[in-house]
Amino acid sequence: MASILLIGPGAIGATLTAWLAQDDRHDVAVAARTPFDSIEVQTPEGILRARPRVFTEFGQVSPVDWVLVATKAYDSDSAAAWFPTACGPRTRVAVIQNGVEHIARFAKHFDVARIVPVMINLPAERLSPGRTIQRGPAQMVVPAGPNGEDFLELFAHTNFDAKATDDFVSAVWRKLCLNSSGAISAVLLKPQGIVHHEGVAEAMRTIIRECIAVGRAEGAKLEDAIVDDLIERAKRGPRDDTNSMLADRRTGRPMECDARNGVIVRLGRKHGIAAPMNALMVSLLEASQQN
Ligand SMILES: NC(=O)c1ccc[n+]([C@@H]2O[C@H](COP(=O)([O-])OP(=O)(O)OC[C@H]3O[C@@H](n4cnc5c(N)ncnc54)[C@H](OP(=O)(O)O)[C@@H]3O)[C@@H](O)[C@H]2O)c1
Repeated sequence: MASILLIGPGAIGATLTAWLAQDDRHDVAVAARTPFDSIEVQTPEGILRARPRVFTEFGQVSPVDWVLVATKAYDSDSAAAWFPTACGPRTRVAVIQNGVEHIARFAKHFDVARIVPVMINLPAERLSPGRTIQRGPAQMVVPAGPNGEDFLELFAHTNFDAKATDDFVSAVWRKLCLNSSGAISAVLLKPQGIVHHEGVAEAMRTIIRECIAVGRAEGAKLEDAIVDDLIERAKRGPRDDTNSMLADRRTGRPMECDARNGVIVRLGRKHGIAAPMNALMVSLLEASQQN
């Protein structure tokens, strides 16, 4: 039996909570900013329901085996405010977010030896608090080692494609290539179909090339072919596909532009690699949220 506290029960967090709650070996609770009574997730296999305990105040929680953080990257510091009451000497913290700085974001809050960074591909959308749609299969990748293996064991009863890798750095930078190029969609307030505009496709290629250059300097193995693969895949995909930065901008929420584009500029600077197209995306998205 593992005790689990999931912090941030949004699209990803509520979906994962529903899956975890199907295994009666787990004692699952959530730490929420916006309370709700129950979780209902429409998955490709049918509806999953769960009634985890929902906490909204730090004093309501006590130390657990696993803390799973599934907030947006920009809410990492506020998520860590749960740690003093949720974490004990044996607690491990899994960070289930996009970007490449899973550990860096929490290093000032927790023992890095007990942090498990998780790369997740799981198309999920939040309909209302506690209500989500999982639109496709789930894939999770963690670093090889005891912490990663124990994390994957929590999901052993699911049909997730969940595995450990010796090269987590390449896995997260590969995903960042895709996520960084999505910034153009958020800037233009248009879904994926804008990739059919050749000038836009070329700008996306530039964003991805910058990401590859910085990722390689950080130790990721990324082939040149990623650039055209991603553009061709986007062209074949649904024209109305909406990435989460676009969805966040449309609903007036903050965007993960630092975690997806700013990081390429910041880490590029460290290695003497310019990333002007990513810097432009950050400036335009930041400016779009100013009055
Ligand atoms: N959605 C996807 O398809 C998808 C796929 C792959 C990866 N990801 C990544 O997964 C991460 C989570 O994304 P998401 O789409 O699930 O985000 P989301 O739907 O915006 O959910 C985030 C949740 O965190 C809650 N929250 C924020 N600060 C909190 C705090 N201090 N304490 C407790 N709860 C807090 C929010 O509360 P409120 O309800 O009050 O807003 C919300 O419920 C992101 O890094 C994202 O890029 C998402």
